[in-house]
Amino acid sequence: ALEKEAKRMAAEFEYSKDDLNRGVQHFMTEMREGLGKTGGHISQIPTYVTAVPNGTEKGTFLAVDLGGTNFRVCSITLHGNHTFSLTQSKVAVPRTLMETQVAAELFSFLAKQIENFLKTHHNDHFETHKAKPGQVAYFDLGFTFSFPVEQVGINKGALVRWTKGFSIQEAIGKDVCELLQKEIDALNLPVKVSALVNDTVGTLMARSYTSPGKESTLIGAIFGTGTNGAYVERLSNIKKMKDIDEKQGGANYDTTTGLMVINTEWGSFDNALKVLPDTPYDRALDKESNNPGIQMFEKRVSGMFLGEILRRAMLALHNSDNSNASFLKDKTSADNDLTTTTVIEPDSALFKQWGIDTSFLSIVEEDQSDHLRITKQVLEKDLGIQAAATEDAIAIKMLVHAVGKRAARLAAVALGAVILETKRLETDGFVDIGVDGSLVEYYPGFEDYIREAFRETQGIGEEGEKKIRIGLAKDGSGLGAALIALTAHDAEKP
Ligand code: BG6
Ligand code: GLC
Repeated sequence: ALEKEAKRMAAEFEYSKDDLNRGVQHFMTEMREGLGKTGGHISQIPTYVTAVPNGTEKGTFLAVDLGGTNFRVCSITLHGNHTFSLTQSKVAVPRTLMETQVAAELFSFLAKQIENFLKTHHNDHFETHKAKPGQVAYFDLGFTFSFPVEQVGINKGALVRWTKGFSIQEAIGKDVCELLQKEIDALNLPVKVSALVNDTVGTLMARSYTSPGKESTLIGAIFGTGTNGAYVERLSNIKKMKDIDEKQGGANYDTTTGLMVINTEWGSFDNALKVLPDTPYDRALDKESNNPGIQMFEKRVSGMFLGEILRRAMLALHNSDNSNASFLKDKTSADNDLTTTTVIEPDSALFKQWGIDTSFLSIVEEDQSDHLRITKQVLEKDLGIQAAATEDAIAIKMLVHAVGKRAARLAAVALGAVILETKRLETDGFVDIGVDGSLVEYYPGFEDYIREAFRETQGIGEEGEKKIRIGLAKDGSGLGAALIALTAHDAEKP
């Protein structure tokens, strides 16, 4: 009976072939709207990056990366033959700094991490500079800042909104490069913030640099804490660019390639919920989030939210008054007549908002052990639920699978729409995509479900799916930021 009830709930997450195709069409419409004017659901932010690397680039650069699971500082040496070496340090951003009133607190924390990094790994450089501030070589730093920023130049842009649980009101509308530079200067570090980079753009660059073929990459996508994508667009299609250029007194970027990378910010695709699926769990998650009504696509696709959707579904099943569907409660098994006594600790993560991490979903989805022993272990360890019955574990696995598969099919909507809108399958005969993020890296079968959905997408189909290459650009945005810092550095030379 529990199985039947869990199946019924899992079915609420089904995202059919028709839904998928409607989703793709609507996504393409919103892409065009975003290119036409500022302020649509899909922002389509111009990045001022007008070329993708070819692997011959050289030099040493610093990069910092804020907005994923970790804050990272790295130095990257590009060897110019598709390879690079990288030194890095990672630290989790303290929760208090993600929601502080004072933006400078966050940025001075970041500058301190840069100082520590330089002292540990580049002490020579650091000391020379300290002696003669401003006179010796400095490091160009690429700032990967994975939030929506309305850019007006390669290292200039105003923060539009926070996402993924960050919320620092004071920073909205401010230039985040300036905020970081100020704190760097306060520590007298030999560092110039020379490029502002979204993680998706960094991923796109990194994949292009390392990809062995001559063909360039079309899309960089993140399926991690959040989700977003960047792609290479024709300048002539970016209708709003004319207005933006006029405000800047002319185009302040290289127009000769006829291309520009666009940061879609697809996390806010269909905030009006015209085509996105909407279960009671999605609705409750959104209502109780710190940004209700926005990032509606992201809230159905990315790691930060899948655990919370699952948690709400599990809780609904647990609290269900359907006496046939006793879930995570004492029950007598039909086959051996043994009674299982399940204990849920009062402070179990099951009862806490954001209590369930995506890694929980990855482990359960992967579990092929007898009687789902591994799922039961992780229930005990992560959720403080002891002695769950096998029926409970089976029900959880069904829900996990449903939530995860829906996320992957929605991911395919975004990728499929970009592929179709740019017509690259027709013009180039193939498409290359670089991806990064904990979900696509660790969730079993995520890419397979995306591919299955591609085959069901009109305009892609069985034939098209075979021509789409997807490659992991692991931790790629550091490399990508370095590549963009290089471009910025070169552009400055007399
Ligand atoms: C990292 C990238 O590898 O992946 C970051 O360097 C990116 O820039 C992150 O934000 C996304 O994954 P997650 O799972 O950490 O959000
Ligand atoms: C969120 C951010 C976006 C970022 C994505 C992945 O959607 O708004 O800028 O690229 O997360 O980290």
